[in-house]
Amino acid sequence: MSVTNFHGADEAVPALSGIPTKVTSQSLLDKKLNGRPIAALTAYDYATARLVDEAGIDLILVGDSLAMVVMGYDSTLPVTVDEMLHHTKAVRRAVKRAMVVADMPYGSYHTDLAQAVANAIRFVKEGGAEAVKIEGGANRVELIERLADAEIPVVGHIGLTPQSVHRMGGYKVQGKSMTAIERLIKDALALERAGVIAVVLEGIPREVAQRITAELTVPTIGIGAGPDTDGQILVLHDLVNLTFSGRAKFVRQYGDAAALFRGAFEAYRRDVETRTFPDETESYHLTKETRAVLETATLARRKA
Ligand code: KIV
Repeated sequence: MSVTNFHGADEAVPALSGIPTKVTSQSLLDKKLNGRPIAALTAYDYATARLVDEAGIDLILVGDSLAMVVMGYDSTLPVTVDEMLHHTKAVRRAVKRAMVVADMPYGSYHTDLAQAVANAIRFVKEGGAEAVKIEGGANRVELIERLADAEIPVVGHIGLTPQSVHRMGGYKVQGKSMTAIERLIKDALALERAGVIAVVLEGIPREVAQRITAELTVPTIGIGAGPDTDGQILVLHDLVNLTFSGRAKFVRQYGDAAALFRGAFEAYRRDVETRTFPDETESYHLTKETRAVLETATLARRKA
């Protein structure tokens, strides 16, 4: 068996029976070129990542939103590299087809460039991520170039960047004034020149997202950025009503896992309390012979 599975660079890799065609940065780019939307979603654990992958989602982001939706913090700021890695590894084990992207958490790339590259390498080497995502625009160019030197593909993220919550003064739609719009366009172009494979556009007006999408060669993936981006991403917990907070305007809820889970947990509690769980069919049994021996031994012990 050969160690590498080499395919011609420009050749589309056919899906082998049962083995889905792997999503790569090239296939994301092809989607943009062919006008086929990219479907992306966050995931943070084995079970959901597996379902997301099996649903044919192209890109799975282990987002730092896990700080809020999984760990219960009120912002993304507290989550650490080790915590993000823990979840990235679980997602990696589940995913066969989608591209797995790990979010670099706040503080992991904001100080020293060498430290930032070392942290990103951990996401690839230990976490099995195929790319990392970092928030910021022109101010991240040097880092993106250093990551490219370390063979790490980067997804950019501009607009409403949750790690900048304190600078922004809250989670507010960005890019509303002409100055802000021009800065966003400059940032997007700087990210592209630096070599990102895609740019997440979050919380910006539809018109601005449309303009940036038209300017860029690499795909844009929107969240709260209207329908004209090359792809869409949502936080999984928002999609299935597991967030326990008011729903943002841009979220469409596709299922109600909270109702499903709550119903199941309450029914289980009732069944335990009424001794209807477990029943005979849910119990293990001794063989007839062993049962007879056990009964005889029990009787003998009672008589003694
Ligand atoms: O952390 C996250 O989930 C994200 C998405 C909202 C893009 O960054």
